[in-house]
Amino acid sequence: MSDSSTPVIVHGATGRMGARIIALSLLDPSVRIAGAADAPDSPRIGGESGAPGVMIKTAKNLGETGVSARVVVDFSSDDGARAAADLAVRIGAALLVGTTGLSESTRERLRVAAREVAVVVAPNTSLGVAVVSKLARDAARALGPAFECSIVEAHHSRKKDAPSGTALRLAAAVRSAGHALRDDQVVAIRGGDVIGEHTVRFAGPGEYIEITHRATTRDLFAIGAIHAAKWLDGKPAGMYSIEDALGMSA
Ligand SMILES: NC(=O)c1ccc[n+]([C@@H]2O[C@H](COP(=O)([O-])OP(=O)(O)OC[C@H]3O[C@@H](n4cnc5c(N)ncnc54)[C@H](OP(=O)(O)O)[C@@H]3O)[C@@H](O)[C@H]2O)c1
Repeated sequence: MSDSSTPVIVHGATGRMGARIIALSLLDPSVRIAGAADAPDSPRIGGESGAPGVMIKTAKNLGETGVSARVVVDFSSDDGARAAADLAVRIGAALLVGTTGLSESTRERLRVAAREVAVVVAPNTSLGVAVVSKLARDAARALGPAFECSIVEAHHSRKKDAPSGTALRLAAAVRSAGHALRDDQVVAIRGGDVIGEHTVRFAGPGEYIEITHRATTRDLFAIGAIHAAKWLDGKPAGMYSIEDALGMSA
């Protein structure tokens, strides 16, 4: 572990994503788990986080005990994302929010936080999805209105939000190219143990194009989140995109 490693707090630490971020961070000498937090009513508060010497606390505990970290990584819930923003501002750390299905009031809280610390809000932290988003925007621009666009996403049945944050991001990418993608053409299906599948389809006269991303392991999101957390370390206050953090900006 080098002294220049990025100290990170994982918020939502015992969740599916949080646990993988902690596990993979232990293999990366350029990042260090400085804190781990869960919901205030979680039975896991006070338990092991998986990182040596780091117990599960609440965001409030961590703020009050003056934990030293440079990035807070949040994969929790809408309430959790606001608690993570409060913690990041309080300790002067950058903030990566991977939580999806955020309410407008939470989004506003994150915009306010970005006046004081560096913030990335990323419904999908995969490099592959960042590439698909760029391809979808370029395709919409090149194909024009003669091609009708639709987006179909599939996830496991425990997923709480629909359409997924990634589908909404892909829709925004298509619309940013001037394409009038209708809301009813963004379709979500749920079932089984699908980690995440997204297809952007352009159907035109005599031909159609499909761009598909399939996640085969949840680890790709954790790897992207760790990459983005390291990128955020030391960045000035402001709202940045995941494309910025993954080196994908045009
Ligand atoms: N950006 C991406 O690439 C990406 C990829 C996958 C998932 N996600 C999103 O990330 C979020 C988490 O996904 P997951 O699959 O890891 O869910 P999960 O397994 O349900 O884990 C959520 C974790 O957050 C904790 N939590 C809930 N409310 C909290 C609060 N108010 N304060 C602090 N911690 C809180 C939970 O604790 P308890 O269990 O005690 O409630 C749990 O440890 C979801 O919104 C999901 O859609 C994003």
